Amino acid sequence: MYPTSLLPPLFPTLVPLEPFLDESALQQEFRDLPSVPVLWQVQSIDSTNRCLLEWAPQGLPQHFCLVARQQSAGRGRRGRAWISDAEGSLTFSLWWIFDRSLQELSGLPLAVSLGMVEALHSLGMTSVGVKWPNDLWREGRKVAGVLVETTRLSSGQVGAVIGIGLNVALPSSLQDTCVLSLNDLRDEADQAPARATVLGRLLNTLIPLLESFAQSGFAPFAETWMTHCVHRNQQVTLLHPNHTRSQGECVGLSSLGGLILRDPAGEPHTYHGGELSLRLEAP
Ligand code: BTN
Repeated sequence: MYPTSLLPPLFPTLVPLEPFLDESALQQEFRDLPSVPVLWQVQSIDSTNRCLLEWAPQGLPQHFCLVARQQSAGRGRRGRAWISDAEGSLTFSLWWIFDRSLQELSGLPLAVSLGMVEALHSLGMTSVGVKWPNDLWREGRKVAGVLVETTRLSSGQVGAVIGIGLNVALPSSLQDTCVLSLNDLRDEADQAPARATVLGRLLNTLIPLLESFAQSGFAPFAETWMTHCVHRNQQVTLLHPNHTRSQGECVGLSSLGGLILRDPAGEPHTYHGGELSLRLEAP
């Protein structure tokens, strides 16, 4: 079982009920990690991100992971809701404490999306790529999103709640209710990997990657991230919160994870910010 005894007594209202993920599949994935993450599974919660942010001041163990079978108020980027399915989605948040400034953490969602792509590729899902700033795409449709929310701790460090929503096998009824075009992890034979295997492999990949990010920041990951970028060397449009647009060829990332677009005159421009939205330019 997971070392829930490590947790401070801060979960009076949260009963883990019956775990919904196969524990042996998880343990199998964790076998190479130097320390097994403290992982709690809950049947239903409003938002795993909101919960961890609420609990953070009381002290959460490093690498604590809360996974919910169902979220009633899942949060997405740019104030959107994150819609998920109790049987076909993976929704979880990972807690990480950093000795880094908020500016240095701006590349964190990109590092996470890179780790997720590497984990999914290692499970054979090689058609998944990254879309700036922090989505995973498969065949032109969104398959996962990352929402990082931070809080300043009394120690002066920054606590990051790394929220991940992944479509494993979405029912078509749910796909129809979304404005965004969604994809999931099912193969041609309609088979999806077990969620415990996917979660285990994601944590197995993300934990060492985040240790490295905590040491060296985003810069060492920038080049590899671009090799998985679904818009690499393509003409794209960036929509700003004030509805203006920037256009150019998607050519690279800055050391902090800013997107570099090359304008028609060949000049590079770097864009930062979680409120931006990237589109492929209409031909
Ligand atoms: C996005 O908009 O692309 C980011 C979606 C992030 C959703 C995940 S699901 C688990 C965690 N809890 C939340 O409320 N949101 C994140």
